[in-house]
Amino acid sequence: MSTLPKELGWTSDHMYQYQGFWYTSMNLEGVMWAQQHFKATHLDVFLASTPKSGTTWLKALMFAIMNRTRFDFSTHPLLTSNPHELVTLLEFYFHWNIPYPNPNTPLPKTQLFQTHIPFTSLPESIVDSQCRILYLCRNPKDVFVSMYCFKENLTDINLAPLSIEEAIEQFCKGVSLFGPFWDHVLGYWKVSLEWPERVLFLKYEDLKRDSLFHVKRLAEFLGCPFSLEEEKEGIVHEIIKLCSFENLSNLKVNKTGVLQARDFIIEKKKFFQKGEVGDWKNHLTTEMGDCLNRIMDQKLDGSGLTF
Ligand code: A3P
Repeated sequence: MSTLPKELGWTSDHMYQYQGFWYTSMNLEGVMWAQQHFKATHLDVFLASTPKSGTTWLKALMFAIMNRTRFDFSTHPLLTSNPHELVTLLEFYFHWNIPYPNPNTPLPKTQLFQTHIPFTSLPESIVDSQCRILYLCRNPKDVFVSMYCFKENLTDINLAPLSIEEAIEQFCKGVSLFGPFWDHVLGYWKVSLEWPERVLFLKYEDLKRDSLFHVKRLAEFLGCPFSLEEEKEGIVHEIIKLCSFENLSNLKVNKTGVLQARDFIIEKKKFFQKGEVGDWKNHLTTEMGDCLNRIMDQKLDGSGLTF
């Protein structure tokens, strides 16, 4: 690590650049561990995203869709476990000091994993095994604000606070958790065009706008489409309701307690901030918003991807 390029960190003293992306030392150790040791099978499913894109929501939705015949809604594991306790974060796999996945939840045949690792740095077995990847992304201005608010809970109290102006400057230079943001999204965007049956690209805003359509599409992509009978019984609606921000954020299990991986401790409630589209307008000046728009337009130019 000492030989890698370093920059001022958002949540720790430094971030390190490895294979073109920026990581805290803990994340980087996890990425390297996964690259060396993780063996995916074709039955695995991965949820990939940049941090603060709505990963918690998708973890809940994918878990509920894939396990819908195993649990009923009155005793569902999502009522008593935080989504992060039910779906393994690949790059934290060896950091968790709790048995993981949650030992109270029997393992399904298809293993669901979550990762923030950029496509080009994924363990080779994930790319080679033909397993499916759902990529979730979100408007970068909302991602930035969500990350900036979230980081207040993570930052080492001994560090000088990072002002929003400094943070946006870093973000626009590409220095953010698992950033550059645009390279992260473009990596998965390109493979989703190349291998549409293997990589599904989904936007947080689209899922918010038409949850019913996208949840059904997600189930099809995952190889477990809803039957007409399930639709008639209202299973799709039940899943959407169970995983909604309003429901999850009000559950005792998500309002109290912490998740801990080594010395990284985070209150579960911090994964549920506002869950709104366009909250950036309450935090960024027009100039800041324009600056982010300009950089995104320039970086995504010609890709066919817009926000
Ligand atoms: P805000 O900070 O804008 O409120 P991640 O899970 O990738 O860390 O992303 C966190 C963002 O997703 C937060 O956004 C959080 O409030 C939002 N979120 C969490 N659960 C959600 C849900 N069930 N539905 C919609 N948004 C949700």
